Parts: sequence; structure tokens; C-alpha cells
Amino acid sequence: MDEFVTLIYNGKEMLLPVVTGSEGEKAIDIARLRAETGFITLDPGYVNTGSCLSAITFMDGEKGILRYRGIPVEQLAEHSTFKETAYLLINGRLPNRTELTQFSINLNDNSLVHTDLKVFFQNFPRASHPMGILSAMVNALRSFYPSLGTSEEEINITMTRLLAKVRTMAAMSYKISRGHELVLPRPDLTYCENFLNMMFDTPVKPYEIKKEVVRALRVFWILHADHEQNCSTSSVRMVGSARVNLYAAISAGIAALWGPLHGGANQAVIEMLTDVHTSGGNCRKAVERAKDKNDPFRLPGFGHRVYKTYDPRAKIIKKICDELLESMQISDPLLDIARELEEIALKDPYFIDHNLYPNVDFYSGIVLRAIGIPTNMFTVMFALGRLPGWIAQWKESTDDPHWKISRPRQIYTGNQQCDYIPLHAR
Ligand code: ACO
Repeated sequence: MDEFVTLIYNGKEMLLPVVTGSEGEKAIDIARLRAETGFITLDPGYVNTGSCLSAITFMDGEKGILRYRGIPVEQLAEHSTFKETAYLLINGRLPNRTELTQFSINLNDNSLVHTDLKVFFQNFPRASHPMGILSAMVNALRSFYPSLGTSEEEINITMTRLLAKVRTMAAMSYKISRGHELVLPRPDLTYCENFLNMMFDTPVKPYEIKKEVVRALRVFWILHADHEQNCSTSSVRMVGSARVNLYAAISAGIAALWGPLHGGANQAVIEMLTDVHTSGGNCRKAVERAKDKNDPFRLPGFGHRVYKTYDPRAKIIKKICDELLESMQISDPLLDIARELEEIALKDPYFIDHNLYPNVDFYSGIVLRAIGIPTNMFTVMFALGRLPGWIAQWKESTDDPHWKISRPRQIYTGNQQCDYIPLHAR
């Protein structure tokens, strides 16, 4: 049965249709609102605004649920590979054996990057942040691969190219930043193994691929693979809505992810934990600072726009973190500080009242540290994980026959009409 919400203003009524999602989520469809009433809605930060219908990812922030194409992220983290999860997100279903093999072949075939890109990398100032470099380089791919056909086959090639090359480029940027020779991708290695090998193999010390490290990276990437309409994904959709090419849209997503309130939080967490450690390990002080409304400091890795309970990804990554450190026999003082901070915060009335729990970034930095990833590359690692989600969301939006260019409105609060005053008269 069709449902409606009645809007009454100045004695006039308007029926607004209710839209119900497959998990029972409800929205009020206001598409005809301005045309019929002259009103727009105002929702800073889009806290109550749904920007699209999407069949990719379901989250329930109150219950701590996250599913990709219906499959709980816990099951994917346990049983799937990153490659398979990427296929699932982009194509809407798990691949059969033949499809997965073909996908692997395509990724392998596209994993090399044009050698001219190396020149690009080398000309960035040494102190450049890798996220800035990655965003620029992904945009530059458009110049190296200018043929952007619109047939399904050509779009698939572009998507595969991105998944394969961005991983190579991330490892390449690390090698160049260290002044080391590049390590090329190998066809005999899996997606995760290849990345680790390209990052850490050197002619003088061959990299030993450890299964617990590969597992940690695989899970880290699966947990980050999509998260519905977050800031970077919305940026990909919004930029994509102008019908720019996929490279430009993904480049915008990378730029948005860089922010410390978003993907940059994993780097901010490690910096904060290091700070607490080097200044004597006083966790209570950090929690008190985060509560002080006169201090802009917020506890990085805590809180989430949607999750008002424990982030399901944080639960999984925390377990992976414990297991990885134990199997590698690493004792990281930052892990002890993180555990203590979490314990203090979860008992603190401010954190309880504000529903602030650890998010995925709280423990992921410690995992990345144990793998050997330098802190300034943490957000790049997040970007590599989020790539399939961005691609899937871009594809869904460009395939949508009702898609419009994103163009929010505003309520103007500036000067009313006034006259120009010549310079001599001001
Ligand atoms: N530390 C202290 N207080 C916090 C924190 C925090 N980490 N997060 C939110 N709050 C407080 C706010 O001060 C605010 O308090 P008030 O209502 O008394 O004024 C209240 O909780 C609500 O905060 P908002 O900023 O309105 O929540 P919003 O949904 O806009 O922000 C965000 C979510 C940006 C994630 C926020 O919790 C935050 O800044 N966290 C720290 C950064 C972080 O970890 N980001 C990673 C997010 S997950 C991801 O991108 C993978």
C-alpha cells in the first residue's frame, strides 16, 4: 500500500510519498516539494538527507550492521578475498570460478603502469603527502589512457585498470619516496601478496610473504571496501554526476578521504597514540581534552555519523590486530595505550551520552604499523580498500536512468541588493 506524509503549511496540504527500502528504511520523497510549494529543505551536513537509491551497501548504525550486496561484512572478512569482494561490489553478485579467473587475468594484465608515470612521481617535492600525489596521479591516468568508450566492455576495462594500477602506483610512490628501485607486479601472486611484495621486496633483502600479514591486509581492505554514502563516496558520485571520466571522479574521492575527519583519521589515531606515549602515557588527559568544548581536539578513531554503537568493522580489525601482533611477536606500546583509552572512554558518561565508540580507524593504524606501512601511507591504504566501493557507486549512479547532475540549493543570508561603490569613494 502506498504511504504518504502530509505537509501542512498556511492551511494548504501536500502529500509527500514515502519510499521504503528493502530493509524497511523509510524516506520522504520531496522531489516535487519546490515545484509545488516554493520551499526547499535545509539539512547541513546532509544528516537527514538520502542522496540516492542504492543496492550496494546496507548499514544499520543502531544495530551495528554492515552488508555488501546483502552479505554481512563479517562473512566476507572470514571467507572472501579482496578481489572477490571487489567483484561482488562492482557486479552485484559473487563471481563463479570462470568469472573470478577472468577477473584475475584482467587485473594481472592491467597491473603495469606507463613508465612515464615514474617521471611524474619523481617531480613531486619529497615532502608531499602520498594522498595528494595519489589523487593527482589517478587524475593523470586519463592522459595516459585517453580512450574512454561508453560501451560496457570499455567501462569494465577502465574499472579493472584502476583497480590494478592504483595498487601498483601506491607501491611505486613508496619506493620512489625511499629512493629505491621499483618492484614490478608478479602474475604468481595474489592481489594482496603482490602489493606487499611491490612495497617491501628489495634486491638485497627478498620480502618474505607471511600468511598472517596477507590475511590482515586482506581483511583491512575488505572492511574498507564500501560504506554507502560517506563523504568520499558522495564526492565520487557528485563529481561523477557532471559526467566527468571515472579517473577524475575517483581522484575527487581520494581528495575527500584525505581529511582527518574521514580516512585521514587512521593517521591521526597513530599520531595521537604516539603523542600520549611520548608524553608519559596519560590516557585520561586525552579523554578529558576530547570532552573539553573549548578545545577543538576530538579523540580520533572515535565516533561516527551513522554508527551509534560499536562499529562492526572495528570489532573485526581489533581481533585481527591482536592476532597479528601475537603471531608476529610484536609488542606495540601504542596498542596498550589504545586499549586503555578505549576502556576509559567507553566508561565515561560523555562518551556514553554521545554514543561515541571506536570506529574502524581506531585499531587499523596499529595493524598497518605491524605490517610495516609508514604512517603517512595509512590513508592511501584506506583508499586502495575503498576503490571497489567508489567504482561500484560511480557505476550505479551513471547507469541510473533518472540520474541528474548534483546541484544542491541554499538559503541565501547575505546582503540584499546594494550598489557598487567606486574605489575612490570607499
Ligand atoms: N571526540 C570527542 N567528541 C566527539 C567525537 C570525538 N571523536 N566525535 C563526536 N564528538 C561529539 C561532538 O563534539 C558533538 O558533541 P555535542 O553534541 O556535545 O556538540 C557530538 O559528539 C556529535 O558530533 P558531530 O560532529 O555532530 O557528529 P558527526 O556525525 O557530524 O561527526 C565524526 C562524525 C566526524 C566521525 C566525528 O565523530 C569525529 O570527528 N570523529 C573523530 C574523527 C574520526 O575518527 N573520523 C573517522 C570516521 S570513520 C571513517 O571515516 C572511516
